[in-house]
Amino acid sequence: MDAKEFENKIDGLVSAALSAIESTASLDGLENLRLQYLGREGELTVILRGLASLDKAFRPTAGQLGNQAKQKIEQSHEGKRKYLYEAGLTERMAREAIDVTAPGARYPIGHVHPLSQISSEIISIFYSMGFSVADGPEVETDYYNFDALNTPASHPARDEQDTFYTNMGPSVLLRSQTSTVQIRVMENNKPPLRIIAPGRVYRNEEVNARKYPLFHQVEGLLIDRDVTFGQLKGTLSAFIQALFKKPLKVRFRPDFFPFTEPSAELDSECPFCNGKGCKTCGGRGWLELLGCGMVDPNVLKGVGIDPEEFSGFAFGMGLERLAMLKYDINDIRNFYTNDLRFLEQF
Ligand code: DAH
Repeated sequence: MDAKEFENKIDGLVSAALSAIESTASLDGLENLRLQYLGREGELTVILRGLASLDKAFRPTAGQLGNQAKQKIEQSHEGKRKYLYEAGLTERMAREAIDVTAPGARYPIGHVHPLSQISSEIISIFYSMGFSVADGPEVETDYYNFDALNTPASHPARDEQDTFYTNMGPSVLLRSQTSTVQIRVMENNKPPLRIIAPGRVYRNEEVNARKYPLFHQVEGLLIDRDVTFGQLKGTLSAFIQALFKKPLKVRFRPDFFPFTEPSAELDSECPFCNGKGCKTCGGRGWLELLGCGMVDPNVLKGVGIDPEEFSGFAFGMGLERLAMLKYDINDIRNFYTNDLRFLEQF
């Protein structure tokens, strides 16, 4: 190859490379061109490697031409690379631009379920009176659900709390009342005791607007020396007033529970009409709210607490009933059907 031929060859290569670079539209394509001309086996690289075989007199000029060619291709490549990079960035910025003035997407925020709301409220009221929260299993034995609560197998009070039995054994059932937790707490702790036990209970009930086979109760138990019925009344009266946020009167009516003696039903003045009589209280002016009484000495003996030294009171209330009253809900099934139109109202 003489000098002229070499020069032509280099010129041809450079103009081919530059026009290919000029017309490529992607960074990948550009990189391929770089490899094609300047890579280790690239067209220009191979030519430069062959310089040694050229005529000695022409070699320096040829070397210079080769380097100039390389520089031209490199410059053109770098210029195009910057251009493509910036164009890509601009395009991406336009595509991904955020309109900070556009209205945001709203994510619906959930609600605390009305039963959980009233449960927390009850817990915090009793907490302020020094009660702590205790817990017990929902799958129970009939010992904790009945026997230990002074309700032996033949006792008619068992009929009112027919529940669900399991195939784990004839005495394993779903608890029908949270009173079971009284026994578990007294077995494991020494008096004085002051607890409440919120939780789920079960009964074999036909479903209607007032009844459901699953519902919730809050149990209360206080054991100490010289506990009086007056203290029971004071405690529950303070509770009712805090729950309804009104200075409502309370009254006791005699009742029967196997595990309390004496036992009572606690009524509160109707918080909706302040005792005057309305639709909610059926014109009576009073609402029946919960069961309570002084813990039966038999129950204390059963858990090894000396009834001569200690006494106490207990109470139990249905959460659904309280929530229905407080929030004016007329059908218990609303609590369990997860209908947002209902739940969102609380
Ligand atoms: N366990 C009772 C029930 O489910 C409610 C109850 C009444 C609980 C009197 C008590 C109590 O602790 O003293 O009907």
